[in-house]
Amino acid sequence: MEPRKKYQWHKVATDIAEINFPASGLAELTVGNKKICIALFKESLLACAQKCPHAGGHLSDGYIDAAGNIVCPLHRYKFNLENGRNTSGEGYFLKIFPVEIRKEGVFIGFEENKVWNWLK
Ligand code: FES
Repeated sequence: MEPRKKYQWHKVATDIAEINFPASGLAELTVGNKKICIALFKESLLACAQKCPHAGGHLSDGYIDAAGNIVCPLHRYKFNLENGRNTSGEGYFLKIFPVEIRKEGVFIGFEENKVWNWLK
């Protein structure tokens, strides 16, 4: 059994309205010195790396399809925002991050000992 993941949580907004989502439901956030893409789909918030794992397309410039996949603006590869799977079948994997809405605000979690170091 895989050990339970530990996260460092970063507050990114006081509430969803502060994120200012455009009609695409995709916005770019900066956490530490990294760019994150945050997505609003059917009243859920999801987060992933801003750079597409294929060739670095800016995912917040893409769109979300009817099934909830994020579609890269460069070559239209699709990724499931809940698990990072490359649903259009090219074999890439998109880094995703958990999002929590708490009464103190919107938080994104970064796995300890993995991504945390690049935030400093
Ligand atoms: S850079 Fe995203 S699909 Fe090619």
